[in-house]
Amino acid sequence: MKILITGGLGFIGSHTVVSLVENGFTPIIIDNCSNSSEEVLMQIETIIGKPLTFYKEDVTDGLALDRIFTTEKDIKGVIHFAAAKAVGESVENPLKYYHNNITGLVQLLTIMQNHQVNNMIFSSSCTVYGQVEKMPITEDAPVQAPISPYGNTKKVGEEIIQDVAKSSDLQAILLRYFNPIGAHPSALIGELPLGVPQNLLPFITQTAVGIREKLSVFGSDYPTPDGTCIRDYIHVLDLADAHVIALKRLMNQQQESNIEIYNIGTGKGTSVLEMITAFEEVTQQSLPYEMAPRREGDTTIAFADTTLVNEKLGWKAQRTLEESLDSAWKWQLNISNKTL
Ligand code: WQD
Repeated sequence: MKILITGGLGFIGSHTVVSLVENGFTPIIIDNCSNSSEEVLMQIETIIGKPLTFYKEDVTDGLALDRIFTTEKDIKGVIHFAAAKAVGESVENPLKYYHNNITGLVQLLTIMQNHQVNNMIFSSSCTVYGQVEKMPITEDAPVQAPISPYGNTKKVGEEIIQDVAKSSDLQAILLRYFNPIGAHPSALIGELPLGVPQNLLPFITQTAVGIREKLSVFGSDYPTPDGTCIRDYIHVLDLADAHVIALKRLMNQQQESNIEIYNIGTGKGTSVLEMITAFEEVTQQSLPYEMAPRREGDTTIAFADTTLVNEKLGWKAQRTLEESLDSAWKWQLNISNKTL
């Protein structure tokens, strides 16, 4: 069964492509390589042991999308990862984010409709909740005005999909990711931040391997047990598995309404200092860090209530934080051509 994977060479996309193949699907990858490289395609093919169909195209290009759907004929569904995702950059360059993330989504939905492809899994984010008082966060927590243009593109993206589903045969499942971390155990694919990493774990692994001098902990005066922010860090392979299970639900027409929304997290919160301690224990590397001022736009605490996805999809995160940290470290060593 052919499934179009937009952004399939990205961090979450590449791991989901591996899980899809392992579950008997045929992924068709489209990626403009603006935040990934064709090297990732070769690594995925090494992991799965066979070639993949790849189109180096941009989802904002409706003609290119139309050609792909015509060429591939029987695409049965789409998993839409392709989007710009750096919170800070979106504040400086909102138009890049509205073009990439919103125009891209509208073009994709239009071409899907023209080709009667009605199944979509959408990559959303817990960032749509903004700062939530009550923890853990449930799917019916109010979606607030997100704190960044990036977060707004996810909120508006969800609303666009819901409107299209109301007026067409579109069936969609929106997955609100918490904080994806880790890498495939082969260490052949993982998180490839271009430039200075914005996210915590890539900065930690680059510091531990000597690329960065030290980690700055953004804020130590938050109202949390150790004063640092708390997040729900989920192994990227658990996240990939959630996409496969959600896709099977759509393919088997088991969904209970044409739009379903699920939080995808571990249900546990971990602070920045706890991440540092756990990383040092798992890797036996000491991590130089300093306390620094808070980062604009950070929420104090966010971790998922995963009751709904546990019940409806039978999915639960399987991997431990230690497994995530160990896999991220092995990946960093591999791309830094270092040995353990
Ligand atoms: C986690 C914690 C930082 C770097 C964002 C997006 C979310 C998703 C994941 C795309 C925070 C602290 C970080 C550093 C630090 N992105 N930190 N020093 O901000 O929770 O989520 O990335 O889908 O949508 O919002 O993740 O990894 O940037 O930060 O102290 O050098 O680590 O302050 O408390 P975040 P993050």
